[in-house]
Amino acid sequence: MSRKVKIVEVGIRDGLQNENKIFSVSDRWKMINGLTASGVQHIEVGAFVSPRWVPQMHGSLSLGKKAVSKNKRASKKINYSALVPNERGMQDAIKSGLKEISIFGACTESFSKKNINCSMNESFERFKKIVILAKKNKIKVRGYLSMAFGCAYEGRVSQAKVVQLVEKMLDLGVYEVSLGDTIGVATPKQVRGLLDKLNSKVAFTKLAMHFHDTRGTALANVLASLDQGIYAFDSSVGGLGGCPYAGGASSGNLATEDLVYMLHGMGFKTGINLTKLIATYGWIQKRLDHSLPSHVGRAGEPKTIGI
Ligand code: HMG
Ligand code: MG
Repeated sequence: MSRKVKIVEVGIRDGLQNENKIFSVSDRWKMINGLTASGVQHIEVGAFVSPRWVPQMHGSLSLGKKAVSKNKRASKKINYSALVPNERGMQDAIKSGLKEISIFGACTESFSKKNINCSMNESFERFKKIVILAKKNKIKVRGYLSMAFGCAYEGRVSQAKVVQLVEKMLDLGVYEVSLGDTIGVATPKQVRGLLDKLNSKVAFTKLAMHFHDTRGTALANVLASLDQGIYAFDSSVGGLGGCPYAGGASSGNLATEDLVYMLHGMGFKTGINLTKLIATYGWIQKRLDHSLPSHVGRAGEPKTIGI
């Protein structure tokens, strides 16, 4: 049997947070519906962050509630989630009824300060409180570690430090840690090197990879991760977005269409219908009024060569 790969769709959150055009709740809801109709099973619907910091995430509470209510009626449940930076955000997460949230930390002090306005130690103190509230409310918690392969402000990031942070996050009680190449600098050699270091310390079923295609290495990095036994990846429809606090250095999350095309071609299952996903990409591109970087979105599916 072909192996299933988990894809977490981050376009509505990590994608739109980096766009100048602010999407209404209603347009984001249309995007979510397009994605679920394409068979996407894990979707970040928003972020319970300060609207002063990320105005694009306004209305995340309303989107979260819509997603929960849609799930109640659906025969096939979707794993909807949202980002939470602090207890204030967690209160909104609880109100939304979402059954999963993500905490997001950094591998460097500079990015932690720029992104969530606190030191790394302070962030873990906040995370502890969030996880306690999540447990009380039966909400699953995922964790992000950004700048895991290099930092926009500090440059090289020690792999030993990343390993320690992954262990620290898992000790908090998150079920999966997503390692972010936030500024798209990683190469397959670096990915293999980090996973070799993590291998003796962490079960790979608890890891996901979050690559950016800023320098064209995202799919090569996915391949390197698959070879090492990682089967969970984040990606963004159309290749939308990046982090607004990464000093302008964080364009291009890996496009979901490109990831799905490669995985299906290699015999992996994702549960996603590529034709429908490309249609959703087309709709978003029109709404944005600028082109998106997804290779497969632009080229379409090959029709004549029997692939
Ligand atoms: P702060 O300014 O230090 O917050 O921001 P504060 O605690 O001093 O409070 C100031 C005001 O904000 C208060 O309101 C709070 O109530 C309010 P006032 O009394 O002045 O009216 N406030 C909030 N409002 C709504 N929701 C909240 C919230 N918290 C406080 N949760 C804070 C600290 C963490 C809130 C801010 O820094 C923030 O929102 N940061 C989020 C930035 C963000 O979303 N960045 C993008 C994430 S992308 C990423 O990290 C990478 C990733 O995608 C992976 C990858 O690509 O590698 C995950
Ligand atoms: Mg990203």
